[in-house]
Amino acid sequence: MIIILFLSLFISAESLKILVYSPAFAGSHTNFMARIADTLTESGHNVTFFVPVFDEARSNQLGVKLTKNVIIMEKSEEMKLDPITVDNITATYWHITVNSKGGHSLFEPVHKLTVQSCRSLFSNSELLETLRSHEYDVGIAEPLMTCSLALFRHLGIQKVILASSCPNYDAVMAAMGEPADTSYVPSIFSEVSGDRMDFADRLENTDMYNFMIERYSQMYDDEAKVYRSFLGQDFPDWRDLIPDASVHFTNSIPYLDFPRPSIQKTIDIGGISVDLEKIQSEKLNGDFDRILGKREKTMFISFGSLAKSSEMPQNYKENLLEVFRSEPNVTFIWKYENDDVNFAKGLENLELVKWAPQTAVLNDKRLSAFLSHGRLGSTIETAFLGKPTIMVPIFFDQSRNANMLSRLGTSITLQKTDLGNFDKLKTAFHQILHNDSFRKSAEQVADVIRNQPIKPKELVVKYTEFVGKYGPFHHMTPYSLKMPWFQRYGYDVLLFKIGSFLAPVVLLAAIFRIFIGRFSVSVVKKNK
Ligand SMILES: *[C@@H]1O[C@H](CO)[C@@H](O)[C@H](O)[C@H]1NC(C)=O
Ligand SMILES: *[C@@H]1O[C@H](CO)[C@@H](O)[C@H](O)[C@H]1NC(C)=O
Ligand SMILES: *[C@@H]1O[C@H](CO)[C@@H](O)[C@H](O)[C@H]1NC(C)=O
Ligand SMILES: *[C@@H]1O[C@H](CO)[C@@H](O)[C@H](O)[C@H]1NC(C)=O
Repeated sequence: MIIILFLSLFISAESLKILVYSPAFAGSHTNFMARIADTLTESGHNVTFFVPVFDEARSNQLGVKLTKNVIIMEKSEEMKLDPITVDNITATYWHITVNSKGGHSLFEPVHKLTVQSCRSLFSNSELLETLRSHEYDVGIAEPLMTCSLALFRHLGIQKVILASSCPNYDAVMAAMGEPADTSYVPSIFSEVSGDRMDFADRLENTDMYNFMIERYSQMYDDEAKVYRSFLGQDFPDWRDLIPDASVHFTNSIPYLDFPRPSIQKTIDIGGISVDLEKIQSEKLNGDFDRILGKREKTMFISFGSLAKSSEMPQNYKENLLEVFRSEPNVTFIWKYENDDVNFAKGLENLELVKWAPQTAVLNDKRLSAFLSHGRLGSTIETAFLGKPTIMVPIFFDQSRNANMLSRLGTSITLQKTDLGNFDKLKTAFHQILHNDSFRKSAEQVADVIRNQPIKPKELVVKYTEFVGKYGPFHHMTPYSLKMPWFQRYGYDVLLFKIGSFLAPVVLLAAIFRIFIGRFSVSVVKKNK
């Protein structure tokens, strides 16, 4: 009782009222926002988790545990009419190439849902009034969509924090005034090899960066049309709302990520979703404990939940089986979704499982290696748990995540089409299982990132409280956003420099010519 009394005194005096906007459409985004919400709740703030539902299947997977104020906005009639979710495109994942020329269809479902959800939000005046009556101090939203930022402005929330569940959304970086440097920083969805790019890669990386900005601008513009139809044509759009945020949390771990320039508002909080204490308290039991005890080495294989193993091309499956056969002293655990497993009959060292306690498996000392598709959540978890990996990126930011680990010597990156190349596949498995250098690097990386000087949770709490107390910080927006491009990139100065270097040269040349002209004339005269 006394503790509760004390807590409530503390809460009423110092606590902030925080609105976290987290649409339900994909687990990785939801988890990231939920960790931020719970972290702030844990430190005594009054957090509301606001969830516009995009996909009913995900409306019961909100990820918040400590945060009790949850406001759910159900799907509107319009959204129910022609239901579409990110799962609608799963079957294409194995075949699609996401580059500056293809794979654009991947963006359609979220674009459509975002616009529809925005319309549903601003049509709901009762909900808007409820939210307004709570008088929130701080608003936190992922800038994957910007209706949230329009909502905060409409409710009079001036202290805004962006939180990106990826390391660098190109469109957001550009809108915040952050430099791009595409010659050595891989754009978020780029399938290039990492920071050391040849000319073709640098060209593709630049095209991909520009494509992402163009694609997201279309979506942001369509959202702006919707909220402006409710709030007036003069209501600011994303070009004002994004850079107006006071802090931008990104899901990046500086030690792991590609080095890149950023502005002071960008605070890297990668690793916030890894609860190391909880993972270390989990013990494998039953079947998994038995499976890991079978052979000296064990490797776990999972392509995540979006790209189904069962839907992968047949020859990929056959090659994987051949590789398993070539390593009889290793047990392979493969996360495989359906019951149609006759293709794997008779392979003693293969265990097909529909579900696995992934973090507990990865944390087990007996696990030797992990084959992952490279979702950021798994990538960061694996890095924390110090396991060598083969990464087979399928789509979105996974190539970037994979190359990020390979660069540190903890991982081998394969293209998904390499699953069709038996020799390459076999070599990769052999190396990751028997070459100790990957294990050593992985353990060293884990040791470093577990001991970062400031823990991500602490960064979230301190920066949110700082913004809540002293924000907003308008003057922290780079002036570059107001400059014409030729000034911003210094082209006018460069032009002047070239001009002032060339001017004397040109002048001298002209004088010289006149002089030569006179001289030759006088020579000619003399000779006469
Ligand atoms: C998306 O998938 C759902 C469920 O499988 C289906 O009902 C719906 O028609 C699909 N929508 C589109 C546009 O393909
Ligand atoms: C937290 O905020 C909600 C919504 O404004 C309010 O109903 C509730 O009383 C607040 N809780 C505390 C402990 O202040
Ligand atoms: C498997 O282990 C056995 C016993 O240690 C050894 O004789 C055999 O060569 C190993 N097989 C392979 C393919 O490494
Ligand atoms: C082990 O891996 C490292 C890093 O890829 C490589 O330099 C080394 O040659 C490999 N060793 C063997 C024996 O293959």
